[in-house]
Amino acid sequence: MMLDFQTLSPRDAYNWMIHAITPRPIGWISTISAAGQTNLAPFSFFQGVCSKPPTLMFSGANDRTGKKKDTVVNVGQVPEFVVNIVSYALREPMNATAAPLPHGESEFDKFSVATAPSSLVKPPRVAAAPVAFECRLDRIVEFGAGAGGSSVVFGTILCAHVSDAVLTDGVIDPRKLDTIGRMGGDFYSRTTELLTIQRPK
Ligand SMILES: Cc1cc2nc3c(=O)[nH]c(=O)nc-3n(C[C@H](O)[C@H](O)[C@H](O)COP(=O)(O)O)c2cc1C
Repeated sequence: MMLDFQTLSPRDAYNWMIHAITPRPIGWISTISAAGQTNLAPFSFFQGVCSKPPTLMFSGANDRTGKKKDTVVNVGQVPEFVVNIVSYALREPMNATAAPLPHGESEFDKFSVATAPSSLVKPPRVAAAPVAFECRLDRIVEFGAGAGGSSVVFGTILCAHVSDAVLTDGVIDPRKLDTIGRMGGDFYSRTTELLTIQRPK
């Protein structure tokens, strides 16, 4: 079959994309509002994009009424965020924090996710995350508008906290990191079955 993305509804385009672009890494993103209220939510339209300057991005889609996600609103108010990496052990609290809470109500408090203070930015990090990147907002690029539109947030990585438990000889060991990936629907993938492939010389 062939799909014509020029005539698909935004909802259908989204569904075909999330079922095909897999597995997606999950950035569990903590932010803080100007009033000092913390926020935590998962984003799988998330990726590293550059190492000089070290940069990553995530995409916050507007909700059905066209309203921006609290994460995006907060980053507009306090231009900093933390990207926490999600291990299998954190899958349930990560999923819980996708609940649409009213702006200002903290997912950290509501779902008892333990925080650790960040070193260089105001939003706290997830204490149990195997890796946490502290970021300063670089820019927000708007795609579309209203329902279906997205704010793509780029951040410069200032520092990272890496748990000793996921290291072997000073390097992150994929066998210890145990990250999960997002598939289509409610499916996730786990990194327990790994393979190696030699790059061509
Ligand atoms: C694994 C997972 C990945 C998600 N990825 C995204 C995403 O990339 N973009 C997005 O806008 N929402 C995504 N969501 C939904 C948001 O987490 C959800 O809308 C959340 O309530 C947003 O929180 P906020 O309004 O506090 O920022 C995802 C949810 C889950 C469970």
